[in-house]
Amino acid sequence: MEKIKEALAKAKQYAKHKAPSEPVAEHLHKISSNKTNNFIDTENELGNIAYQNTKVVKLDTRHLEKNRIVAHIKNNAVTSVFDSLRTQVLQKMEENNWRTLAIISPTPGSGKTLTSINLAISIAQQPNKTAMLVDFDLRRPRIANYLGIHTEKSLNDFLAGKAELGEIMVNPGIPRLVVLPTQRPVSRSAETLSSNVVANLIRDLKDRYKSRVVIFDLPPMLNSDDAMVILPQIDCVLMVVSNGMSTETEIEQTLHHVPQENLLGVILNRSDTPEKSYYY
Ligand SMILES: Nc1ncnc2c1ncn2[C@@H]1O[C@H](COP(=O)(O)OP(=O)(O)O)[C@@H](O)[C@H]1O
Ligand SMILES: [Mg+2]
Repeated sequence: MEKIKEALAKAKQYAKHKAPSEPVAEHLHKISSNKTNNFIDTENELGNIAYQNTKVVKLDTRHLEKNRIVAHIKNNAVTSVFDSLRTQVLQKMEENNWRTLAIISPTPGSGKTLTSINLAISIAQQPNKTAMLVDFDLRRPRIANYLGIHTEKSLNDFLAGKAELGEIMVNPGIPRLVVLPTQRPVSRSAETLSSNVVANLIRDLKDRYKSRVVIFDLPPMLNSDDAMVILPQIDCVLMVVSNGMSTETEIEQTLHHVPQENLLGVILNRSDTPEKSYYY
């Protein structure tokens, strides 16, 4: 535990070290595209007009709670932890005009997927925000399973060129939240994540609505190239470290791959003191 604390303290220094600068994604976007921003009026998405054609899947509350998805429950201790995390995340993202967020961790089982889902739900509780949750852990996609969403078409079909974006968007019965689920593992996932299809998808999701925060649930950093391939296309990063699950070296190796100005913070999951289970 002490070792993790030391590594996290280093991470904190590291995140503080530099003044926020232009995100990598913004920079690449400017180089690759001269088109002006064509934001659609915020009112459109907030007014649910964008969801008119979005499939609505009602979630089972018991299934959610069994899977520790609680951010929609009012007056719950864990919910308030996520609300507080949301406030800090949104503040930093707004300061920097960032709208895409990657959730990473050094090793599997750290709580990335759980954090991604609860944070997305918490953001959607804000009346002036909408959240889009994308399952980019193409090796071990879990969002659909945790939420209990079973759809015929998913990101698998979109990535294979067999579905339009509109066909795979799901509203899980929570206003202002849209999910892009992945139903099955994708072979050659690193190649897929570095494809033009994915680059265009990220740009589309980001540019369409100014009020939208897009959260990407990613695979662990140290088990494959996948997260490294996709990170330069995403504005900022939140790292989840689970108490006792990653070594100091693994945490440091992971931080090495994240541009320090893009690191929003580190969440210490499964902490002994739940109210302090994350920090910046
Ligand atoms: N704070 C926590 N307390 C208890 N169990 C947790 C906590 N965070 C995650 N888990 C459990 O650990 C497992 C892995 O979590 P998950 O979010 O899927 O990790 P990852 O996406 O990083 O692989 C899941 O069964 C999840 O319910
Ligand atoms: Mg996961």
